[in-house]
Amino acid sequence: MPRKRVLVGLDIGTTKVCAIVAERDEDGEVHIAGMGRAPSVGLKRGVVTDLDATTRAIQEAIEKAERMCGHEVSSTFVAVSGQHIASQNSRGVVAVARSDRQIGESDVARVKEAARIAAIPAADREVIHLLSRHFVVDGQEGVRNPVGMFGTRLEMEAQIVTGATTLLANVVKCVREAGLEVDEMVLEPLASAEAVLSAAERDLGVAVCDIGGGTSSLGIFIDGGLVHTVVLPVGGHHITNDIAVGLRTAAAEAEKLKARYGAAASYMASEGELVEVLGVGDRDPKVLPRRFLVEIIEPRVDEILGMIRAQVRGSGYQQRIPAGMVLTGGTAQLRGLAEMATDRLGIPTRIGSPENISGLADTVNSPAYATAVGLVLYEARGRGEAFAARDRDGAGGGWWQRATAWLRGALQGE
Ligand SMILES: Nc1ncnc2c1ncn2[C@@H]1O[C@H](COP(=O)(O)OP(=O)(O)OP(=O)(O)O)[C@@H](O)[C@H]1O
Ligand SMILES: [Mg+2]
Repeated sequence: MPRKRVLVGLDIGTTKVCAIVAERDEDGEVHIAGMGRAPSVGLKRGVVTDLDATTRAIQEAIEKAERMCGHEVSSTFVAVSGQHIASQNSRGVVAVARSDRQIGESDVARVKEAARIAAIPAADREVIHLLSRHFVVDGQEGVRNPVGMFGTRLEMEAQIVTGATTLLANVVKCVREAGLEVDEMVLEPLASAEAVLSAAERDLGVAVCDIGGGTSSLGIFIDGGLVHTVVLPVGGHHITNDIAVGLRTAAAEAEKLKARYGAAASYMASEGELVEVLGVGDRDPKVLPRRFLVEIIEPRVDEILGMIRAQVRGSGYQQRIPAGMVLTGGTAQLRGLAEMATDRLGIPTRIGSPENISGLADTVNSPAYATAVGLVLYEARGRGEAFAARDRDGAGGGWWQRATAWLRGALQGE
């Protein structure tokens, strides 16, 4: 089946909705052709709280991207985040069907299904990803692709990522009301990883953490694949809020101060630097040492990094990620964050911006666009196709069928 030439990614974040339209040439290179961005007010901590506002923001972002590239788009890959996301290990086992004991595609499909069923998510949860970690053929571990091998017993070690059915259905509903179909949903750090990680980092073992406005989503990759994920309900909004309260100024002013003069640690602000802070309402502006601002930011950054560190340690994979941590998301632009994170997390940390793209590469050259760019790369590289295709055929009665059935019921009931 020839793959689609036009690729679409939609990142519905807590601060912005970002749509990217890309084209893939015959060599598989991905050119960013259009990008649209709209402020997002309909989400809290990565979860939709206002359907209409979110739908409008999606429409605005998509229209801008369409206008920029001249393509009309009808379906999209969508990033998902939120504290309801969870991941777990699962193992499927089947007997090889063919009498000559050669393993075929159908055995692999059956063992995937067995791994999916073995995990049995609760009735109110849906499987977003079923990621193969490796196969075991007659007790032989570490097989990457068993098709064509001989064996009697085929096992699959899988990582299963699930989310709350209703929260995922709300996202689907907003996208559809904005006039698009959802091709596939992709976990935020899985998408971001596509845009920022090198193959060498993936093979060595690495963590990606996307620190956005309302969420910080962590993914740990070992032997090329995702082995652990968690979404924490903290992000740049908390820093902005602390500044607004601490300096008694409006959120918009706090946001500006953070981006212009902010830094992760107070030693980064030299003595004697001054900043002007607008007062609320008709109060006069104040002039304060920049260090005041940074001293407000530092403890919150410390807290967020502490939460990330606890998750990395708790995962049990801390010793297996020699390539360290790559930070993405808008908050990764905070001055000095990589240094502070290297210190607090105790692993080498760098900031990741989208790589391996052409076209409007400059427009999306920021860690804030890692997720949206990662979505089109995820699609271009055919990462999730097999599972999604089977789901679309209805063989597994996957989340897509159930989410749409749920939606149809909900829409009829309105
Ligand atoms: N230069 C900067 N310095 C510090 N923080 C910044 C800077 N630029 C943007 N941010 C912060 O980045 C955050 C937005 O990041 P991003 O665009 O990744 O969020 P999002 O994807 O909309 O949210 P989420 O993924 O949490 O749902 C905001 O809190 C914003 O204040
Ligand atoms: Mg985000």
